[in-house]
Amino acid sequence: MLITSTQELSLRPRAKGVAGSNPVDFSGLLRRKLLAMTQGFPIACIPLILLKLGAMSLEQELTADGSITYFNSDFGESYHSKHGAYREALEKHVQACKIPELVAKQNELKILDFCFGLGYNSAVAIAEALKVNPEIKIEIIALENDREILEKITQIDSVDFSGLVEKPILETENYRLELLLDDARLSIDKLDNNYFDAIFFDPFSPKVCPELWQPELIAEVVAKARPGAHISTYSNSRVAKDGFSQAGCKLHEGPKCGRRNGGVLALK
Ligand SMILES: C[S@@+](CC[C@H](N)C(=O)[O-])C[C@H]1O[C@@H](n2cnc3c(N)ncnc32)[C@H](O)[C@@H]1O
Repeated sequence: MLITSTQELSLRPRAKGVAGSNPVDFSGLLRRKLLAMTQGFPIACIPLILLKLGAMSLEQELTADGSITYFNSDFGESYHSKHGAYREALEKHVQACKIPELVAKQNELKILDFCFGLGYNSAVAIAEALKVNPEIKIEIIALENDREILEKITQIDSVDFSGLVEKPILETENYRLELLLDDARLSIDKLDNNYFDAIFFDPFSPKVCPELWQPELIAEVVAKARPGAHISTYSNSRVAKDGFSQAGCKLHEGPKCGRRNGGVLALK
């Protein structure tokens, strides 16, 4: 049997890693690159390559605002900026997408959390929305393909998503969160167009995760937003700018959040 697409490769389960075990380890990044290069190789070769290169590890990191994030050795990147995991969720996503302003004038809010990870963006959105409107009902669809990161989730503000390890839907009086645990490129097709009031677009960088920054995928993501909705990113890369502008969005510069430039903030 031949491997014919990178998508098939990326859907293969990952070996379980050990938090905090390794110093910075680039073998995962190398493994992802090698896997992409092995398109067309007999499938029997792939486990050998994986064994040789070792398993993915998640290493805990403390960011400048005191909140915790992780370094993912497969991608060679952290889940958040060193300036603050919490701060990044609050400024770059929740405030950028105008969540407080939206819930001040409506009692229902629909959010797409594209690359859920540790859940900071959704958790901070719920906490901030509740400060403004205690009656709010929030529907969140969260896309993520890595079960291992869910095991690292801890309570953020008063919001606790740790139950997602056991079940994909969490429901309280104020929110309903549904996690689609699959490749986001597949999950996106299951969602309605023109539906979400805000989209947090938060993949690893285009350099290490180019598959989630393809213009066709960005266009699909934009299609899920209702007209007038914001789509937040931390990246100010050319692919981000081109992708969102080709999808018909107006581009703004998002909050800088400790960096020299803000990321692309797209308005549909
Ligand atoms: C920068 S992190 C997201 C951080 C997250 N928003 C948070 O607050 O913790 C990127 C996430 O994308 C996920 N990811 C990578 N490739 C994916 C794919 N093809 N489909 C779905 N999720 C993917 C990773 O597992 C990781 O959790």
